[in-house]
This record gives sequence, structure tokens and C-alpha cells, in this order.
Amino acid sequence: MKALEGVRILDFTHVQSGPTCTQLLAWFGADVIKVERPGVGDATRGQLRDIPDVDSLYFTMLNHNKRSITLNTKNETGKEVLERLVKTCDVLVENFAPGALDRMGFSWERIQELNPRMIYASVKGFGPGPYEDCKVYENVAQCTGGGASTTGFLDGPPMVSGAQIGDSGTGLHLALGIVTALFQRERSGRGQKVLAAMQDGVLNLCRVKLRDQQRLQHGPLKEYSQYGQGIPFGAATPRAGNDSGGGQPGWIVKCKGWESDPNAYVYFITQAAVWGNICDLIGKPEWKDDPGYAKPEARLDKIPQIFDTIEDWTKTKTKFEVMEACNPLNIPCGPILSMKELAEEPSLRETGTIVEVDHPTRGTYLTVGNPIKLSDSPSEVIRSPLLGEHTEEILNEVLGYSDEEVERIRSSGAIGAPTAQAAE
Ligand code: COA
Repeated sequence: MKALEGVRILDFTHVQSGPTCTQLLAWFGADVIKVERPGVGDATRGQLRDIPDVDSLYFTMLNHNKRSITLNTKNETGKEVLERLVKTCDVLVENFAPGALDRMGFSWERIQELNPRMIYASVKGFGPGPYEDCKVYENVAQCTGGGASTTGFLDGPPMVSGAQIGDSGTGLHLALGIVTALFQRERSGRGQKVLAAMQDGVLNLCRVKLRDQQRLQHGPLKEYSQYGQGIPFGAATPRAGNDSGGGQPGWIVKCKGWESDPNAYVYFITQAAVWGNICDLIGKPEWKDDPGYAKPEARLDKIPQIFDTIEDWTKTKTKFEVMEACNPLNIPCGPILSMKELAEEPSLRETGTIVEVDHPTRGTYLTVGNPIKLSDSPSEVIRSPLLGEHTEEILNEVLGYSDEEVERIRSSGAIGAPTAQAAE
């Protein structure tokens, strides 16, 4: 039995943030019914396509373990079907532009009338306030949530991250909100509204930078390498390059081969507890007793210079040799792994974090499996559905429509033409 078995999700999500959330719920065993517009579907099916007429990797990698029903929710018969879905499901998840569900006629009040136990979960770009009506994509959230102003180098422009903290990060937040609301419903018997705003999600992930904003009032941020470089601080938390966000200074340093390999680098942390080991390893045993280096506070004004010395040593080793040398000495470090290296990493395949999936029109592809492992609820990755692949199945088996009624619904234009079923 899976952890969320028996929970039925009415999935109105599209693009990345909402689908990330419902994919997680599906991996935990929820029955996720993805509602898509007939003939169109989630816009990402056709975005960044690598193979003509085949669902894109963007779509397939965010929509595993779901069923797809096509339904025109602006058509009167489509609304009738949607009402039945609302009555049948436990959770409605959506990430439309603000107001879209209200315009369809499914406000929170209406949903509560139809199903008082329904949990109504939304991703929006912003919470209530001046920007609540705005559409938002990933990088807008990274910029408005504090990520971009604190990412990049001090002398460069603000920078967005490759990690999709605005979309996938907010999807994660929403998933936690949903299971929490399901837990509360066990006792209250009532559903509730769950909102995860992308600006809030990014800010939550940037909370150490708000910490630093307040510390600035009491003097320079001494663990930032700009302090050691003698560069004064301004009014706001600065971009900190590759400085560590915590109290143990760290930096990305070059390794053997850096001249030609863009990922021949390692993240090296000068954890105070193993400072003696670091000094021995990099050939600076005298730093162990030197009053200018022995204590963490004494090193704060020399962080860039210390990392230059560490780099002189790491440049003589590959990133994996650095890791091999540091690990037995308890020195925290991490090689910069490329997507190619991650895709080929056997240990990630073994744990199901990287999974090969077979798809009827695409063939095999790689995806990221469930990164959260439950010992009693293991996740298997099932390929994403074709557009409308489960329309009849859901109308018959979930909603109890007879074949004649399905024909009536079809002739109204609410569900579009039957989809070519996947070759099994
Ligand atoms: N049947 C009929 N109409 C449907 C439908 C269906 N099954 N599914 C969607 N639609 C309609 C919606 O009702 C909406 O119509 P309306 O504008 O007349 O109300 C329309 O399709 C488009 O929805 P919308 O969400 O506005 O899509 P968009 O492509 O214009 O905007 C986003 C995309 C992502 C910018 C926007 O949805 C958004 O800001 N979402 C919230 C934040 C978010 O999640 N952003 C991250 C995305 S990864």
C-alpha cells in the first residue's frame, strides 16, 4: 500500500510549479487526474520539443504517474463533468493565472458548496497585495523573492539559479501544504484553501539572506569574502559569489583540467573542526599554530587568500581525487558534477533518483525519480499519460457515467475526439 493511496487529486496544473506538486503526490500513491483542454493539453507538451509530434521531455518529466482526461471546462456539459469531479476528489490543485477558476464558475465558495471536504490548493506568483493579479514564471519569482539579488558575483549583475526554486520549489511547498491539510481534515472533517505563492517560496529558501540583511545593521558580514578583500558593504545583502551561506567559509576552487573542462572544480569548505587536517593536506602545517590562522575569527580577513592557497593544491588533483583525499580527513567538499556525470552515475540509478522510463511514442528517456524515499511507500515511476489517454476510463470508472452518457458528453464537444491509446 502506498502512503497516499485512496486520495484522489483533481489536477488542474500546468507548466512546472503545479505539476511538480501533483507528481510528488502521485509518487506517494495518490490517484492524480490531470484535466487538460481538448486538443491542446498542458502547454508544455509542445514546448522545447526534441522529437516532432511527441510529448516534450519538459512535459513527460513533470507528469509521471498521472492519468489524463481532456475536458473543456468552459462548455456547459464540461462544467457538469467538472462538478462531478469536484464531488468525487479530495484535493483540487491549480496554478492558473489569478481568477481563472472563478471565471470558469468554480470559486472557492462554489467548491465548498459542492464538496465541503475539498482541499483547494493553488500556486500563485504572489500572495495578496499589489501584485496578486500578475502572471509569474520561474525567473520572475527568483527575482522578486530575493534569489537573484543575492546570487552571482559582487561585480556582476543579479543572476538566476539553474535550480528551479520558483517553480519546483513552490510545488514542493504546496505538496506539504496539501498533506498537512489532509491531516487536519482527518480531525476537522473540513477542507480548506492552501496557497503557496512563488515569491514567498523563494523568500523562504533565501531566508539566510534576510538573516544577513539584519546582521548588516551591526557591522560587516565578516564571513563574506568581500570583507577579506576590503570591499565595503552597502545597504542590502550583497551577492556573495560562491561564499558559503553558513558559518563555515567555503568556495569553489579549480581542479586539474579546469582549462578545458568547465566542471573541473570542487566546492571546498574550511570547516573549523578540521582546520588542522586542511593545513596538513594543502601543505601549510605552520598555519595550525600561527595566531593569524589558527582560530576561525583570525582567518576571516584572509578568506580569499586562504582559498587561493587551497586552490594551488586542488589544481594538482582531479575533483574526484580531491574528494578522495578530503573524505577520510572529514573535510567537507563536493565535486562540481555536470548533468552528464549525474545522468551516468550508477549509485543514483540504484536508488531510483535517476530512472530510465519507456514511453510509447518517445522511446526511453531519463528522468529524476522521487527524491523523497519512504521505506513503507516506495515510488515507482510510471510514464506520463498521452493527452486524454484516460478520458473514458475516468468518466466510466471514477465518475460512473454509462457508455451512452459518455457519447452524450462527447457529442457536446466537452471532451474532444478519442485519443489514440498508447500501444502497450
Ligand atoms: N478548459 C477550458 N479552458 C481552460 C482549461 C480547460 N480544461 N484549462 C485552462 N483553461 C483556460 C483558463 O480558464 C484560462 O482562461 P481565462 O484566461 O479565460 O480565464 C486560460 O485557459 C489560460 O490559463 P492561464 O493560467 O492564464 O495560462 P497562461 O498560459 O496565460 O499563463 C502562467 C501561464 C503560468 C503565467 C499562469 O498560469 C500563472 O501565472 N500561473 C500562476 C503562477 C504559476 O504557477 N507560474 C509558474 C508556472 S510554471
